[in-house]
Amino acid sequence: MSQAMLQVKTASKHFLGLKAVDEVSLLVHPGEIVSIIGPNGAGKTTFFNLLTGQLAPTSGEVLFEGQAINHLPPHARARLGMGRTFQISKPLIALTALENVMIGAFLRDAPLSVARDKAMAVLEKVGLARLAMRRAGDLTLSERRRLEVARALALQPKIMLLDEVMAGLNQSEVGQAIELLQGLHAQGLTFLIIEHNLKVVRAFSERVVVLDRGRHIAEGSADDILNSPAVIQAYLGDGHMGKGGTDVQPISTGARP
Ligand SMILES: Nc1ncnc2c1ncn2[C@@H]1O[C@H](COP(=O)(O)OP(=O)(O)OP(=O)(O)O)[C@@H](O)[C@H]1O
Ligand SMILES: [Mg+2]
Repeated sequence: MSQAMLQVKTASKHFLGLKAVDEVSLLVHPGEIVSIIGPNGAGKTTFFNLLTGQLAPTSGEVLFEGQAINHLPPHARARLGMGRTFQISKPLIALTALENVMIGAFLRDAPLSVARDKAMAVLEKVGLARLAMRRAGDLTLSERRRLEVARALALQPKIMLLDEVMAGLNQSEVGQAIELLQGLHAQGLTFLIIEHNLKVVRAFSERVVVLDRGRHIAEGSADDILNSPAVIQAYLGDGHMGKGGTDVQPISTGARP
């Protein structure tokens, strides 16, 4: 198989006594779509933060295209080709959609006019071109999620890490978002996604990794994993599955205030 795009070697993150991520290893190859699922508090977002540099691991190593990147800050990892969205998106609400995306484009292209053209092309790609001049604060939730994807795309990533980018969307918006991601995947983008909506996991991912209380407890095809007793136990076992549900299985919504 080709060289891994992303390799995580027994990464851990401890917050005082809490093992938020506990010796998790992972390989993502170019062109793959890998989903990470797990109950609320399983350590999924913390794991992402170790990959994109918002947090330093307590132990373990992260490699991107064979290069050790533990020492690199987030912007340097973004330049290498790691794009991500955040569970709690923070667009600059007073700026327009276009300006928000231009900020990402600037990291790659210094001249204003080039950054503007690139940003416009990205907005086109995610279906937001007609809202380019709208203030980010005036966008709907679903439009804001697209904007979040657009901001990450403006950095021309090789891999996109999406942290619950579907949370709070209605069924038809989820369908449109899956279409968008499938289109980007067809153009060569690799995906690592945290997703609570198991319909999305089934429809979109080639491989699923399950985290529970910081540990990697299962990995396999979407069908195998979503039918696995260990996974069902992790969600339903002892009342730490979180609130809400999807129409696929009782599972947390992932929604945050
Ligand atoms: N900065 C921090 N300081 C202390 N504890 C933290 C910190 N960040 C996360 N935690 C704790 O680490 C654990 C994992 O949190 P994390 O946000 O990674 O879970 P998650 O799987 O993303 O959950 P959710 O599905 O609710 O988004 C939780 O118990 C959380 O309270
Ligand atoms: Mg999270």
